[in-house]
Amino acid sequence: MNVRQITIVCSLMVSLLAGCRATPPGYLEASAVDWTKHHVTVGGEHIKNPFPATSAKIEDGKKIFAFYCVVCHGRDGQNTGVPFASKLSPPVPSLASLHVQTYTDGQLKWIIENGIEPSGMPASKGILSEDDIWKIVIYLRHLPPAGSLGEPRAYTGDEYEK
Ligand code: HEC
Repeated sequence: MNVRQITIVCSLMVSLLAGCRATPPGYLEASAVDWTKHHVTVGGEHIKNPFPATSAKIEDGKKIFAFYCVVCHGRDGQNTGVPFASKLSPPVPSLASLHVQTYTDGQLKWIIENGIEPSGMPASKGILSEDDIWKIVIYLRHLPPAGSLGEPRAYTGDEYEK
């Protein structure tokens, strides 16, 4: 079986566990999805980040994140000020959570490049360079305390103040 076939089988198992309910996922279903993503769907597990985590690289990653990821993940990667974060299905997770931090650097890069179908998490391949994606991964490992950077400007109404 190739990875796609394994993913389909695992997704079927998850649907069976869920009993095809149209309600929010229960604990068992959520952890089955989580396991499948960490071990089957998301590739790149053993690929290493070529950059050391210097403060300059963290700052670079933060800037790219604030340009491209901010509308859904907030400036701090923890959804601060994003009005619809909990309303999406699945919701936008905190990138500081254990669920996200237990991915390897290579897996985080894979997620950014390929997105997560069929959720709202977009694929950045061809939009962001390899180097930019690696810098974002470094920022994800050094997220500031939740709320410390304020809200994304798009949601504060600043655009209308001039
Ligand atoms: C249009 C909204 C949107 C944008 C823009 C976006 N994301 Fe996401 N992101 C999501 C959603 C929704 C999820 C939840 C996906 C899921 O659980 O299936 C997510 C999940 C993630 C995850 C965790 C994956 C997992 O297994 O739960 C990471 C890491 C992530 N995003 C990083 C980024 C980075 C870095 C950027 C910018 C390059 C970005 N996202 C841009 C909506 C977005």
